[in-house]
Amino acid sequence: MTITDITAKNRAAWDASAQHHGQGAYWDELVAGFADPTYSRFDQTMTTALQVSDIKGARAVQIGCNNGREVLSACALGAAEVWGIDQSAAFLSQATTLCDLSDHNAHFLEADIYDLPDECPRDFDVAFITIGVLNWMPDLRHFFTAVAGLLRPGGQLVIYETHPVLEMYEPTARDPHRPEHSYFRTDAFVENVAITYDGTDQGSAPESHWFIHTLGTIVQGALDARLALTQLQEFPHNIREVDYDIYEGQYAQTPMSFLMRATKA
Ligand SMILES: C[S@@+](CC[C@H](N)C(=O)[O-])C[C@H]1O[C@@H](n2cnc3c(N)ncnc32)[C@H](O)[C@@H]1O
Repeated sequence: MTITDITAKNRAAWDASAQHHGQGAYWDELVAGFADPTYSRFDQTMTTALQVSDIKGARAVQIGCNNGREVLSACALGAAEVWGIDQSAAFLSQATTLCDLSDHNAHFLEADIYDLPDECPRDFDVAFITIGVLNWMPDLRHFFTAVAGLLRPGGQLVIYETHPVLEMYEPTARDPHRPEHSYFRTDAFVENVAITYDGTDQGSAPESHWFIHTLGTIVQGALDARLALTQLQEFPHNIREVDYDIYEGQYAQTPMSFLMRATKA
């Protein structure tokens, strides 16, 4: 399957899953929150990373922005203008709803990161990527080339993601602490279930493709795109679905998340 085939399948899976996210207690929290211009969904780690990367007054872009909660959060941290790129029209519709509740200077672009349209700016000061984006990418080398292409020279990339070692575990397995998958697996995980963040079963959805990328592959992908690393930090805290909370606070602690910052040459 080509990159285009895989991203098209993932787009259909995300679009079909959007209906499960635009309602309920969490959605109501976002709706109430974004009426306040200082409201942010970033934790302290990401807030500090963006501040160190000079988010205040910057023109920023988020790749894989989903419902726009973090685009709007970056605005709340003082960015002058923030763009969110995502290929799911259904999630961008939720992003527009949330944005309309605020006065933030946010823009949403429906596009596949592997096939950005000409009208997409290529001179951002800051680009950021968070939880659950890298694993949807069938090819990291092309992905980082596209991401680097969004930045001006000297522009900064911030990634705050799930640690790939966590992909070895299945929290719902009989023994969730025994590794189930090779860290070096290259075949996609192909699933037909609706994509949720709270571990609930919301039935079926079109086929989606999820990949493990090792930390080495991620770092090398960035270096190959002429992004110079300025920070790489691993953490023992969970930033993904709540059913992974069981891996926190262990004596033999697995890494659970990481922060990477890099600058475009
Ligand atoms: C887990 S969500 C990101 C959530 C976000 N980090 C947050 O915390 O709000 C992953 C997003 O990546 C998007 N995505 C996946 N593949 C993409 C691609 N090739 N181009 C653009 N967006 C893509 C999906 O549509 C989805 O909205």
